[in-house]
Amino acid sequence: MKPLLVANWKMNASLPFLEAFAEELMTFSSLGALADWVVCPPYPYLSEVRKNLQPLPVQLGAQDVSAFMSGAFTGDVSAAMLSEFGCSYVIVGHSERRCGIGETSELCAKKLQAALAQGLMGIYCIGESLEQRQKNTWRDSLKTQLQPVLSLSESDWQSVVIAYEPVWAIGSGQAATLEQIHEVHAFVRSLISQLHQTLAQSVKILYGGSVSPDNAGQLFADREVNGFLIGGASLKADSFYNIGVACSRSC
Ligand code: PGA
Repeated sequence: MKPLLVANWKMNASLPFLEAFAEELMTFSSLGALADWVVCPPYPYLSEVRKNLQPLPVQLGAQDVSAFMSGAFTGDVSAAMLSEFGCSYVIVGHSERRCGIGETSELCAKKLQAALAQGLMGIYCIGESLEQRQKNTWRDSLKTQLQPVLSLSESDWQSVVIAYEPVWAIGSGQAATLEQIHEVHAFVRSLISQLHQTLAQSVKILYGGSVSPDNAGQLFADREVNGFLIGGASLKADSFYNIGVACSRSC
């Protein structure tokens, strides 16, 4: 199965950056054969990225979405707007929003539902802190973060991707180990299967946190890893592409 590779550009990009990124990506062959690709730029660049990457098999995503449909929510962007601008994916509950901005799992679940109601694919992020990892309480933490979405209907779950991103591995250059990732992904799948036994096997679970062309092949060799959410390494077209190459070699 091809990996799902999602670029999370966070608050990085500029118009010249977009142009250079697209130009470079176009020089790589067999993109579509290697992976399913998604690029999530900051909101203002959505339509420009859509235009630049249009000839390529790359889908567009956003990094966040409002929990509300429309109205007096200054600064929010609705799922309908994302859809109108060509998004097919949206990241929800990234730890930089949970820890940095204080988004609760309940709010993240509402955002996910708003996205699903609009026909978007939702990438729901979960991850434990370093302290929770060290104290071996990561299971409780991940369960709490997943709890409000576990009861989604089977048909909603068809549009949900889970991204496991340990907070301590994000941007640190130190990815989680194969064993840690395997254990968490299997744990998450078992939680989903308590409510949706058959469907749990087909839910995509991505890993995120210091993924690079150097470690992607080894990590993707684990059958529990269905792709990656990629920050730093997705800001360079060649390293983003080479993550796909590495995955294809590990199959
Ligand atoms: P990183 O970020 O790849 O730079 O560690 C991943 C993320 O935060 O999604």
